[in-house]
Amino acid sequence: MKNLNLVALPHFVSVENLKNDEVEALIERAEYFKKGGAIPGLTRPVYVTNMFFEDSSRTHTSFEMAERKLGLTVIPFDPAHSSVNKGETLYDTSLVMNALGVDLEVIRHSQNEYYEDLINLKEHQKLNIGVINAGDGLGQHPSQCMLDMMTIHEHFDHFKGLKVAIVGDITNSRVAKSDMELLTRLGAEVYFSGPEYWYSKDFDQYGKYEELDKLIPKMDVMMLLRVQHERHSGDPNEKKFDAHSYHEKYGINHKRYEAMKKDAIIMHPGPINHNVELSGDLVESDKCMFVRQMENGVFMRMAMLEAVLRGRKLGGLE
Ligand code: NCD
Repeated sequence: MKNLNLVALPHFVSVENLKNDEVEALIERAEYFKKGGAIPGLTRPVYVTNMFFEDSSRTHTSFEMAERKLGLTVIPFDPAHSSVNKGETLYDTSLVMNALGVDLEVIRHSQNEYYEDLINLKEHQKLNIGVINAGDGLGQHPSQCMLDMMTIHEHFDHFKGLKVAIVGDITNSRVAKSDMELLTRLGAEVYFSGPEYWYSKDFDQYGKYEELDKLIPKMDVMMLLRVQHERHSGDPNEKKFDAHSYHEKYGINHKRYEAMKKDAIIMHPGPINHNVELSGDLVESDKCMFVRQMENGVFMRMAMLEAVLRGRKLGGLE
């Protein structure tokens, strides 16, 4: 354990500032937790609260599982019945948590980069709380990205030269943004497919857009994204959306599954819309890593939380 390179960070809000060797160290650490490894006992209780202002099943519960496995004390927070509904700002809510003795907050929020106000403080501001980003609007989803990297690494043992296609509603996906950035940096070749109206020229810097059936036989990873209906208000393509024709054009069906490389995998951050992005009966198929991603998520989130515990010297860790 001593020769492991342990990561220490004051906050974990984005993958943008992570160095490649920190990504590798976090994967190694998550694998250590997966094999049953643990952190040294905390010297005092460390309090964490999970503040999810957008819906979540897996990310929320996965963070809570990771927190409990690390021995952290989880303080419940229910946004639906909080003073946010009386107009309290996220900064002031964080001040409350901090004043009550909460050390870390895991936040999901619809506003892009909501965390800037909580971590880039002006001189007079006293907030002192670790922020872990569980998804900011259309911005980043660092924990999903890191568990995706762990899952790819577990299957292929490397990133260099791997061909990864990101398919679907890319414009509205924070998972896609985090993943395309980090995958490119780690040496994978990124490709894109899906409806062209949900593709933006901004993604050209990371990879090439191609037709799905051209991509399928040459990809190592097919990363499918959910159509983000809840983010489509005012989007004329939402009205035209038809699940059956989406599946025909951009979904993985049995024919496309059979055309994939022998060792290739399918990934999906969840929640999956059966028979839209993926045939319902392929969700638990051999190539599909959907369940594996969720399993790995707990261990990767343990590694991410540990990095912030160390970065803030909490509970005797550093
Ligand atoms: C993703 C999200 O919330 O961005 N879900 C998740 O955390 N696994 C993707 C999605 O909702 O489609």
